[in-house]
Amino acid sequence: MLNLKKVFARLPVARSTRAYEFGLDLLPGLPAAPRLLEIGTGQGYSAAWLSRRFPQGQVLSLDIQRTCLKRENLAFGPRRPDFIQATAPSLPLAAASCDAVLLVMTFHCLPAPQQVIHEAARVLRPGGWLLLADVNGQHWLKTPFEWVEHIGISPLTKAYTAGEIDALCQHAGLSQRQAHWRPGKEGGFMMWFTARKPEGHTIDAQAAPITPPGRSQGL
Ligand SMILES: C[S@@+](CC[C@H](N)C(=O)[O-])C[C@H]1O[C@@H](n2cnc3c(N)ncnc32)[C@H](O)[C@@H]1O
Repeated sequence: MLNLKKVFARLPVARSTRAYEFGLDLLPGLPAAPRLLEIGTGQGYSAAWLSRRFPQGQVLSLDIQRTCLKRENLAFGPRRPDFIQATAPSLPLAAASCDAVLLVMTFHCLPAPQQVIHEAARVLRPGGWLLLADVNGQHWLKTPFEWVEHIGISPLTKAYTAGEIDALCQHAGLSQRQAHWRPGKEGGFMMWFTARKPEGHTIDAQAAPITPPGRSQGL
């Protein structure tokens, strides 16, 4: 299989933290010293950036693989992030232990999207935020994006629509669900989605979960 991971890793966009920057501004009430869980470390540039952005905060970054982490090139803040190897949806964290869970360009490659959102809801404290930034499943480039990923990275890749993510979050009992785009780029290729864990959080068993096409173990 063509290894596009190495190709992508060399592109400047692979080190961009602008998606995090824009997304974090969408989370009102985030404490100055937040406990952040990042799912999908990649090369680690974003975790390092988060540790500089929140010098008093605590960043835990997990990834299914450690091979792409470029430790030697990373500029950390005063408090280094913790990097762990783990496979979403299993998040080795206590319930209500995070102020925000961040999934930036990771959700499209996860095998069990509903379970991931449920796990994110579990580890969030009441009032905590889920921030998801990924390819917009309604953009015309979604199909070429998935096609390239299927060839070079993973056959599991699926770009979700805002409606699908909303349904997953509703099912997990998350509230204040909203899709966002950069000003002037509504409906664009990159989409941000935010949802909050309410006080008195319960699972919404009535909400219909979505079934990702082409997956054997979707939900
Ligand atoms: C495109 S990278 C995004 C990295 C980072 N969030 C960023 O925006 O720079 C996606 C990462 O998700 C990781 N990943 C894929 N499936 C995973 C899973 N089930 N659990 C944890 N990480 C996973 C991949 O190894 C990869 O490093």
